Amino acid sequence: MSSYDELRTAFTAAVSHELRTPLARILALLETAQLPGADRDALIEQAREEVEATRQLVDDVLFLSELETGREVVALGSTEAGPVLEELAERVRERAARADVTVRMEVEEKIQLPLRPRMLRMVAENLVDNALRYAGPRATFTLSVRREGGRPVLRAIDNGVGVSEDELPRLFERFYRGDRARTSRGTGLGLAIVKHVITAAGGTVEAIRPESGGLEIRAVF
Ligand SMILES: Nc1ncnc2c1ncn2[C@@H]1O[C@H](COP(=O)(O)OP(=O)(O)OP(=O)(O)O)[C@@H](O)[C@H]1O
Ligand SMILES: [Mg+2]
Repeated sequence: MSSYDELRTAFTAAVSHELRTPLARILALLETAQLPGADRDALIEQAREEVEATRQLVDDVLFLSELETGREVVALGSTEAGPVLEELAERVRERAARADVTVRMEVEEKIQLPLRPRMLRMVAENLVDNALRYAGPRATFTLSVRREGGRPVLRAIDNGVGVSEDELPRLFERFYRGDRARTSRGTGLGLAIVKHVITAAGGTVEAIRPESGGLEIRAVF
């Protein structure tokens, strides 16, 4: 088997595995709803949430495979980062307040990134979403875009709980989720998508443990 085939087989196995769990839960919920005296409304609502999460998983998987087959064009374009990130900050304001995480955008005036707006939004959304879910209360998350040595650099840094040293290289793997993350919803595809988009646009990305604690994701274009 070529390494590409191996990758594809592993990917298919992971997707089927990921789908089995919500499907089993939906089945159990529906079976319980059929029992006499069951709280049908509550059970149906839970089943609906499972379906929603499953749909998100399918969307992410489809998006990633479109990126990989080149059907979804990643590069070809350039976007002024400021307005896109400001709009995102506005959109997550309520969620950030609920998570008790401060979200800051520090964007150099007029700086452009070599991504179409949709792709920049995809990358930034995944990074902010992770900070809100995992950094923990009272953390500060900063998304900055600035020029370093002539190249645009996108940096997402938070001072939250972070990850252990040995988890760092695994964060960008598909379906990888940290131990602490397992209790929350998610599929482990977010950072795989981030990496794919950045790489396809000619950039590189790495995860770092900052001295101050927390997590830093740094992309150089
Ligand atoms: N800011 C962060 N602080 C601490 N851990 C993080 C942070 N961002 C990511 N992680 C860890 O990296 C793992 C992988 O992140 P990724 O975004 O790929 O997947 P996910 O958030 O678990 O699921 P999805 O993004 O598909 O909903 C997370 O499960 C979490 O353990
Ligand atoms: Mg994520």
